[in-house]
Amino acid sequence: MTTASAHDQKMLNAEMACPMRVEEVDLFAPGSQEHWYDSYSLLHQQSPVLRIPGGGKTPGTDAYVITKYADISRIIRDPEAFPPSQLRQASDEATEIFRDTGYGTPADARESLRPDLESHKQHRLQLTDPWVGPVGADQHADMIRAQVDTLLEGWEHRTGAELVTEFAQPLPQRVITTTLGLPLEDMPKLKAFEEAQVRRFVYFINHKDELPPAEEVENAQALVEFQQYLKEQADEKRRNPGNDMLTFLTQVDYEGRKLTDAEIVSVAFGMHIGGNETTQFALTSEWLLLAQNPAVWAELKRDRSKVRFFVEEALRVYAPTQGSSSRLVARDVEFQGVKIPAGSLLHVRYGAGNRDEEAFPQADSIDLARPNPGRHLTFSQGPRNCPGAGLSRLEQNLAVHGWLDRFESIGLDEEKNTYRHIPGRMFGLVDLHVTFKPANASR
Ligand code: HEM
Repeated sequence: MTTASAHDQKMLNAEMACPMRVEEVDLFAPGSQEHWYDSYSLLHQQSPVLRIPGGGKTPGTDAYVITKYADISRIIRDPEAFPPSQLRQASDEATEIFRDTGYGTPADARESLRPDLESHKQHRLQLTDPWVGPVGADQHADMIRAQVDTLLEGWEHRTGAELVTEFAQPLPQRVITTTLGLPLEDMPKLKAFEEAQVRRFVYFINHKDELPPAEEVENAQALVEFQQYLKEQADEKRRNPGNDMLTFLTQVDYEGRKLTDAEIVSVAFGMHIGGNETTQFALTSEWLLLAQNPAVWAELKRDRSKVRFFVEEALRVYAPTQGSSSRLVARDVEFQGVKIPAGSLLHVRYGAGNRDEEAFPQADSIDLARPNPGRHLTFSQGPRNCPGAGLSRLEQNLAVHGWLDRFESIGLDEEKNTYRHIPGRMFGLVDLHVTFKPANASR
């Protein structure tokens, strides 16, 4: 299992001054996450396409950070002109560990199950949509409500809590663990596996999500342990089938055949990495925004039909996945007057596109009446967008309803909060100390 290395500690403790000039912007420097939104304003005004010299996928090529909504949307909707970059391939040594002792690298699994757009579509339609897609996720509504109830039990006798550890982190963990059909008592072990899964997004050394070489190996070992755990769980489902996603994956007839163990492990692996921290960060931001905007809280109390609009606005204002170096340039192209040669790597910055005033007037504010609120970039767009958006949206909506049901008002413990964010390319508060007044409390 992974432990915090000196590199991780350095990233966690880093401080960085707020950039005042566009030349000072570095979205990937340790500590930069505390100033991303100031950086985006500078970039939008002066450098909406930012070149990272030598930052491409192959030697001699560059990377470009794209921050305008329209440019990002065009890129992610056009997989022919901007194919996936298939980054995050493990180092040679780590690849050997995955192949010799585990079930292949995450890239191997992609190659086997969804090498092209059509197989990607079928993968989604047949394997993940029925469980976590926009319609399939609905079957989990009662389960999610029950998890919200469990986590908020006893809060009517309290006045404060630490939201991340007591609610925002365990809710998505419990939901994805139950959806997959893994034992809830394994959650501490699963949490450690999850940390290994997201480590390269949090403690990377560059925009390509690379870890220090020695840690690539250590991380591969931890992830192989997770793969072996998932394989054992799949075997258990074959012996004792249940009504859960892992059982389904062991039984499904996919394109005229059964899935291999490596394929089952890879689908479950993807659900686990996608289903945890992103939603945790969204839930934490939602409480923060509601506490900071009492008029929005009051409006939601008056009219519950607006909760879903609030959730979309919160996802837009604080995108949990701020960006990814996930697309390549197939042919020479130009964005915002900057010529980008074929072969370049694109870092699409969803968090910046979501605050682009040209796309969203008064982009920094929550507007419950904003037209088409779901058109933000937070789950990406186009054929490769997030397959778990349905499940995540449902969790967030039911969590906000749960808070509205129980609390008269909510707030923040200003003495305890530091409002520090995790490093990397995700946007999430390290912790959030909250206060609340139960709905039935005498005033
Ligand atoms: C607020 C919560 C979430 C956010 C912000 C988020 C965001 C994203 C983004 C931006 C992508 C990249 C898409 C692209 O490259 O075009 C992605 C992919 C993915 N997400 Fe999510 N996600 C969330 C929740 C979930 C959940 C709940 C699951 C699973 C239950 C999930 C599973 C995945 C998977 C498996 C992929 C990879 C898709 C592929 O390559 O085929 N995500 N997500």
